[in-house]
Amino acid sequence: MVIPVNNKKHKERKRLNAKGHSQHASKFMNLKLADKTALVSGSTKGIGFAIATGLAREGARVIVNGRSEKAVAKTKEQIDRTVPDARIESFAGDLSTAAVAEALVQRFPFVDILVNNLGIFEPKPFETIPDEDWRRFFEVNVLSGVRLSRAYLPGMKQRNWGRIVFISSESAINIPSEMIHYGMTKTAQLAVSRGLAQLCAGTGVTVNAVLPGPTHSAGVEEFAGQLSGGKPFAEFEQEFFKTVRPSSLLKRFAMPEEVANLVTYVCSPLSVATNGAALRVDGGVVQACF
Ligand SMILES: NC(=O)c1ccc[n+]([C@@H]2O[C@H](COP(=O)([O-])OP(=O)(O)OC[C@H]3O[C@@H](n4cnc5c(N)ncnc54)[C@H](OP(=O)(O)O)[C@@H]3O)[C@@H](O)[C@H]2O)c1
Repeated sequence: MVIPVNNKKHKERKRLNAKGHSQHASKFMNLKLADKTALVSGSTKGIGFAIATGLAREGARVIVNGRSEKAVAKTKEQIDRTVPDARIESFAGDLSTAAVAEALVQRFPFVDILVNNLGIFEPKPFETIPDEDWRRFFEVNVLSGVRLSRAYLPGMKQRNWGRIVFISSESAINIPSEMIHYGMTKTAQLAVSRGLAQLCAGTGVTVNAVLPGPTHSAGVEEFAGQLSGGKPFAEFEQEFFKTVRPSSLLKRFAMPEEVANLVTYVCSPLSVATNGAALRVDGGVVQACF
């Protein structure tokens, strides 16, 4: 969980919890991730970055990803600075292509945790979305996660432990009329995620989807600029929750860390009874209990 920690105390906590019998250990929520390796696609910024940082803070070895060497090196440096005992590996490459996904799997043949976070969004009127955009959105948002899941799931099943998390969106349910092609990919992720969970019945592997709502990421700042014609973000935010997402209960963009907190838990052994689920961290924007 993303709670700033005093590093000395953090190390002590890990040592005590590893023994499993300290009377102090019960004061902390130990997510038991210290012996796990996690891959987070699209993690140089935004929600992916916050998830990678959260997992590193819990002691997992984390593989970060973005399209350029420069971006992944900067990400590693940033996490190392905030989580001094972090174990960060990096892989630069465009995971929307099969060849790059294959190169990644060759370099890191086993992961315990796969977070399919990579996703693009862009407002566009339906009438002007060409076939190639529909295909591109499907390749980047859906096929990237399908390919990585296909590559890593057999190893997880063999070791009888694994976590796959698809970062979907409230847009899977509330299809945004300003970007229907994006909504289509987010709904597709729910189908894939639920189907894969069913294939893991009776094993120690779980597959879930997490549905964030509007979240203040780098991508959303760009999106805000496109929608508002360059208004200050705070002004855009106020108007957005008045007119575009009035059902939000949070009434502001969530911070990436507030999404990452749920994902970090779902990646942990503690979440074993949560499987095949669509978990909302959407600020209450979807007007339904389930
Ligand atoms: N923000 C929201 O309001 C919101 C709400 C619901 C769901 N989501 C979902 O959450 C996920 C993350 O969104 P975000 O807003 O945090 O995104 P973001 O700020 O735009 O960050 C996207 C990340 O993906 C990387 N990336 C982009 N294309 C890539 C590619 N082809 N291969 C590898 N990496 C690539 C970027 O790294 P480089 O630029 O370094 O390549 C960056 O690290 C997406 O799946 C999105 O649909 C977001």
